[in-house]
Amino acid sequence: MYKSEQLANSIKQLIENGSLKANEKLPSLRDQVNRSGLSLMTVLNAYQELESQGLIYSVEKSGYFVAELFSPLSLSSTHNPTVSLNAKIEINSLVFNYLKSIQPSEIVPLGSAFPNHELLNPPKLIQIMGQLTRNKKNFEQNINLPPGNFELRKLIAQRYGMQGIPTQPDDIVITSGCLDALNLSLQALTKAGDYILLQETIFYGAWQIAERLGLKVVTIPEHPQEGFDIEAFEQAIQTYPIKVCWFMLNCHNPIGFTVSEKIKFQIAKLLHEHQIYLIEDDVYEELFYRGTKPLSMKYFDQQNLVLHCSSFSKTLGSTFRIGWVYAGKFSEHIQHLQLMSTISANTLMQNALVEFISNHHYEKHLRVLRRNLEKNKRIFFEYFKKNLPTGCEIHNYAGGYFLWLTLPSHISSMTLYEHLIQQNIGVAPSQLFNVQQAQKNHLRINCSFSWTIEIEMAVKQLIANISD
Ligand SMILES: Cc1ncc(COP(=O)(O)O)c(C=O)c1O
Repeated sequence: MYKSEQLANSIKQLIENGSLKANEKLPSLRDQVNRSGLSLMTVLNAYQELESQGLIYSVEKSGYFVAELFSPLSLSSTHNPTVSLNAKIEINSLVFNYLKSIQPSEIVPLGSAFPNHELLNPPKLIQIMGQLTRNKKNFEQNINLPPGNFELRKLIAQRYGMQGIPTQPDDIVITSGCLDALNLSLQALTKAGDYILLQETIFYGAWQIAERLGLKVVTIPEHPQEGFDIEAFEQAIQTYPIKVCWFMLNCHNPIGFTVSEKIKFQIAKLLHEHQIYLIEDDVYEELFYRGTKPLSMKYFDQQNLVLHCSSFSKTLGSTFRIGWVYAGKFSEHIQHLQLMSTISANTLMQNALVEFISNHHYEKHLRVLRRNLEKNKRIFFEYFKKNLPTGCEIHNYAGGYFLWLTLPSHISSMTLYEHLIQQNIGVAPSQLFNVQQAQKNHLRINCSFSWTIEIEMAVKQLIANISD
């Protein structure tokens, strides 16, 4: 073992056994060199390794500090694993009005689903786009019609390959963002009146599409420790003739958890036994903080039952609107639907992404983005931890840029949102993600922003409204 690894391991042990506390300052590099007798380079390597694992963080001109260990899953103290049939879904107007209300530029965007745009739109990508626009050839539509740019599909297929998921470019269909991919997939697999299964708390897009397609929605509650309740899942598929599931298992929106590989394996086993399709919304897959990228359900899928949907919206910016679906045998069906709706994804952008990814700019950008998102979220978390009144709970997971707050049960997050929007502060209430009446006291907070005076004032005001 290298000396830097030995040092990193011994510091890691001190963090994990609680001898070093969250936010405690580590010895400076120079002090550590003097204490250990190791070279400056070895100590630096050890600190950088710990930083990449998310165990410590650096503050410019101040040094290295111990990171907060993320909360184990503990979503509710009273877990009620009830499978529910949500007979009639009427969420579209609520979501529409909500999205309109947070749109004006004076609203502080804590309720937005978009990450801080200052961390996206990398200059290199803009530069590539500028270069491509000067050449008329890059506006040629035909080569980028469904299933989309071959080179881009090849690069996406390689990225699956890197995770041990054998993929051909022909398995991939390029879409106009992830929502387009999800929409097309659900449309390809269902007809009105079919039963689908959702997690009880889920991105409102799932509810909206189900409402539009006239589907019957069965839901399973989140498991307080695992995030995903495998027993409720089994019960649901034994009780209802579920045709398709739609799950988010990595950096779940809005709650933030990532489900373990053990549970993913069990889900895949049940899907295979019951021959049920899964549409996996994995739009935050790249925003993990520690270790390696979490596996998608595609990894566990031996029978082509999983349609994996993702996009570049959360990593490069949703203005580009490029996503994809690993459609496999459904590729042609999805292309048919695409040619009847959006026709194709943006041509220039597909070409620009080929240049950007093939020249390794994407990986570099992702590393910086993850670091900044983790740093920003940590500052929000610390502030909430210090200042939220008793009775509130903060759910903080390693990945993404949302915090999920549980408020005292007498507070309706919808009423709170209505008060705050009058004060030009946006927050996302749980009613957008969960149609069960019991789930009304949670908020999703977008923590991707730098901690400016404006953000601090808004968070202060939010806390004052909770405390009132
Ligand atoms: C969970 C989830 N899925 C899908 C989408 C849509 O992604 P895109 O902007 O690429 O269409 C979003 C956007 O907020 C999201 O949060």
